[in-house]
Amino acid sequence: MAETKAHKITLIPGDGIGPEVTHAVVRILEATGVKFDWERFAAGAEAFEIHGEYIPAALYESIERNRIALKGPVTTPIGGGFKSINVTLRKKFDLFANFRPIKNLPGLATHWPGVDLIIVRENTEGEYVGLEHEVVPGVVESIKVISEKGSTRIAKFAFEYARKHSRKKIHSIHKANIMKLSDGLFLRCARKVAEGFPDILYGEHLIDNTCMQLVMNPFQYDTLLLENLYGDIVSDLCAGLVGGLGLVPGANLGVECAIFEAVHGSAPDIAGKDVANPTALLQSAVLMLRHIDEPAAADKVQKALEMVYAERKTLTRDVGGTAGTSQFADAVLAAMG
Ligand code: NAI
Repeated sequence: MAETKAHKITLIPGDGIGPEVTHAVVRILEATGVKFDWERFAAGAEAFEIHGEYIPAALYESIERNRIALKGPVTTPIGGGFKSINVTLRKKFDLFANFRPIKNLPGLATHWPGVDLIIVRENTEGEYVGLEHEVVPGVVESIKVISEKGSTRIAKFAFEYARKHSRKKIHSIHKANIMKLSDGLFLRCARKVAEGFPDILYGEHLIDNTCMQLVMNPFQYDTLLLENLYGDIVSDLCAGLVGGLGLVPGANLGVECAIFEAVHGSAPDIAGKDVANPTALLQSAVLMLRHIDEPAAADKVQKALEMVYAERKTLTRDVGGTAGTSQFADAVLAAMG
């Protein structure tokens, strides 16, 4: 029988809790029977120390070659220092769609059981284009860029996803009462795309109201379509609905490449203590397995993960347990059989 070829994947463990959760996830992925050929790279401050570059040229080349990366979180300095590695990679590879499914896990008591939301966030424009300058001392301008092309393609992504996966409703989330031109253009593009999808209900809500509505009654929403900054904030809010940032996965998708990473950051408050929850990165890896056409392995990992949650015996601290990162990974491995 012919040997199955290994999937070449760029692996960026990141910093803070990144290396711990990445190690746990790689152990689980390697037990699926799927073959991987990992190309590991440092990024951010760690990469600068080793290579004198925040994103080494070899890392860019690896993603260009492999077209798939699995990434842990990377710390971004606050109020100065180098530009976000995450934003830079998303822009460099034009990963315009940030896809974040939000779903309860079994066995976890949350305020709302049965949440099932999809967040589609525009990933390359808005306030995150990084165009800021000091006009005169004491006055700073930050430019928000919204384009017809960028808004139309993210709206198309959301509607095509919804149709393919039998989702019923899409809401564009905006602040077009205040940002009349920018958010107004985003809405006009979404409305135009919506016309081609009469089978999917389309609605629009203001971002501030949406945050309240999500907390009061998340079931009124199905798929949320948002600009970059709104999507970033609402993702964390929605993570809170299903048990926190330790759980929620994400994918940065472009036409050529995809980078899979959790919603959470590097969590410096718990880094290096073997207490971080690897579930969010593991569920991101499940999305990756589906993307590389390994659905059996994806199902196997997801089933094992859900068994561990349903049993409630080996959960990490953030969701009320006492297990460490590696102990949790051991439990998932045992559940995989
Ligand atoms: P954070 O997401 O790192 O942490 C927020 C809270 O959630 C903390 O209390 C943390 O302990 C907890 N938490 C996060 N992930 C967890 C996990 N897997 N298990 C258990 N608890 C978890 O957000 P924060 O503190 O605002 O950001 C820290 C750094 O991460 C910043 O430098 C930020 O720029 C960076 N960041 C990086 C991202 C990425 O690489 N994609 C995304 C978001 C933030």
